[in-house]
Amino acid sequence: MVNGLRRVKISGLGTYVPPNVLTNADLERMVDTTDEWILQRTGIRERHIVEPGTGTSDIAEPAVRQAMDEAGVGPDDIGFIVVGTTTPDTVFPSTACRLQARIGARRAWGYDLGAACSGFTYALTAGWSMVATGAVEHALVVGADVMSSIIDYTDRATCILFGDGAGAVVLSPAGSDEPAIIDFLHEIDGSGGDALCMPAGGSRMPASHETVEKRLHYVKQDGQTVFRFAVKKNEDLALRMLERNQLTGADLDLYCSHQANRRIIEATASRLGLGPGKFVVNLDKYGNTTAATIPLALADARAQGRLKKGNLVLLASVGAGFTAGAVLLRWSL
Ligand code: UT7
Repeated sequence: MVNGLRRVKISGLGTYVPPNVLTNADLERMVDTTDEWILQRTGIRERHIVEPGTGTSDIAEPAVRQAMDEAGVGPDDIGFIVVGTTTPDTVFPSTACRLQARIGARRAWGYDLGAACSGFTYALTAGWSMVATGAVEHALVVGADVMSSIIDYTDRATCILFGDGAGAVVLSPAGSDEPAIIDFLHEIDGSGGDALCMPAGGSRMPASHETVEKRLHYVKQDGQTVFRFAVKKNEDLALRMLERNQLTGADLDLYCSHQANRRIIEATASRLGLGPGKFVVNLDKYGNTTAATIPLALADARAQGRLKKGNLVLLASVGAGFTAGAVLLRWSL
């Protein structure tokens, strides 16, 4: 990747989803949809949803504590906290600040990172750079979203897609013979901004009675435009990433991408020549948890014995913005 920098590894992984489950059958009772349509078009069966009043830091904290336990680091060891999220507890202060206080990381600084579904891949790279340059010893990278707080449960086009969840990793310096993060490749294409957005609540359209009445504080999506971009861009980034590292799909042990739609994941997996054992699909259980999908997918793959120390893994994401990213690494846990 870049010469003269420290090698960086994932030293701990943690995840959390709230206990309440919203199934396709539940949604059939809420909007004009069917279990069959949702399953065929997306691959989603159920998603986890928080109790009202729960913030992103509430669900991120257990994931963070689990990751720190595995890494064997305490609050004072953390120098940097970056939280990929589209649903911060509050517009300000950041969820990174709230988490810093909750875990008592007295020596850390940090911020929230707004990259929607690419929140985890981007945050991982921000954390990598802090450890790689030696600016900090250990960085906490979080991907967490309470999507149910911005979903219109009267809109069948979007409410079936999303769920709530959190994931976190600790990044630490890697020894010369230890598996480590290898490369990253990120892009944005802001021309796609209106295809997936929350129109109101920002500086351009602050909250008012009118914005609430018009239901503008919810996710709006032109699904087909996003779908087409995601398929094309996932494939493009994956192939470029492999090529510039003199690799092919056959070298990968696991393709672990953002979980938005089973068809998007399978399209890229097929282009890379990956069989079913070589890519992760777990959105049937969680839906699209935005910044949390990749750590949740890594944790499931690990629990199933499909992700082992030394494995070559390609992470990939496409999200609102448009944002797109890929991270190549050797699994270090
Ligand atoms: O993570 C961030 C990135 N997001 C994504 O990657 C999402 C990308 N997009 C998608 O995954 C897909 O576009 C969706 C799953 C959102 C939609 O699937 P689609 O195959 O593109 O369906 P569509 O929007 O073209 O809709 C097809 C039909 C329409 O009816 P008509 O016009 O053909 O009569 C929709 O009104 O399906 C209808 N429809 C539904 N029917 C039953 C839309 N939502 C539903 C629903 N239940 N929930």
